[in-house]
Amino acid sequence: MRGPDARSTVRLVRLLRLNARGFSSRMIVARNLIQRYTRANASPPLTVLGGVDLDVAAGEVVAVLGPSGSGKTTLLGLLAGLDRPTQGEVHLDGVPLDGLSEDELAAFRAARVGFVFQNFQLIPTLTAFENVLVPLELLPTARRPEPREAERRARELLERVGLGDRLDHHPPQLSGGEQQRVGIARAFANQPRILFADEPTGNLDRETGHGVIELLLALNRERGTTLVVVTHDPELAARATRIVHLVGGRIARIEPAS
Ligand SMILES: Nc1ncnc2c1ncn2[C@@H]1O[C@H](COP(=O)(O)OP(=O)(O)OP(=O)(O)O)[C@@H](O)[C@H]1O
Ligand SMILES: [Mg+2]
Repeated sequence: MRGPDARSTVRLVRLLRLNARGFSSRMIVARNLIQRYTRANASPPLTVLGGVDLDVAAGEVVAVLGPSGSGKTTLLGLLAGLDRPTQGEVHLDGVPLDGLSEDELAAFRAARVGFVFQNFQLIPTLTAFENVLVPLELLPTARRPEPREAERRARELLERVGLGDRLDHHPPQLSGGEQQRVGIARAFANQPRILFADEPTGNLDRETGHGVIELLLALNRERGTTLVVVTHDPELAARATRIVHLVGGRIARIEPAS
């Protein structure tokens, strides 16, 4: 893993300044997002997202619901700039993502975006503690906390997700729910302006899940972090400002009406 190079960072800072005007109340603007995957045997490509438009205001909590295979994870990956769409545009925090190089996109995500993966995506050779430190190490030097402060923050986050006594465990030595909570602590580490979470309570019992929901909502309340959360959890969906229903790669409806 490597940080962005200096030239990319300078260009990104300029872009962010340019885009600081006009877009600030809209954290996400997605237009006609289409994602297709080519298939073997010259079959026609598989359309996974069939034209998604979505606006999310700064500070909103948006829940994304839909059947398995409806494209929820794919949509989250495009909105967060983890993947590039086949067609369509995403502006995130005022920045058009298709204008960024891979390095610039990585720097942008490191500075502003947190992501909780459905399949955790922890680094198996690092301890839980070290995994949470990774996003802090990827921050540009000017924003990177001192090592002691970074370690304090990582420890505190792991304590808040109930893993204060698992700091030195490697992911294979942790249960699924414990790995999920390390992923949540990691996503919080860089204090992102926007946090995407893909079924963050999917592997947790009710009580632990409730704790994670409270943690997510506290982040939203206290720091104004925008949340976009894929969930099957009725408790979490009920506490969202809007619920986006995805069916067959399209938005079927948004509650309450947008
Ligand atoms: N890289 C890929 N190549 C080909 N097909 C893909 C790829 N990634 C996803 N798909 C397909 O896209 C569809 C949507 O996948 P996605 O993971 O977004 O669904 P989901 O709504 O998150 O489902 P779940 O609730 O099971 O997590 C699925 O049918 C999947 O097989
Ligand atoms: Mg998924």
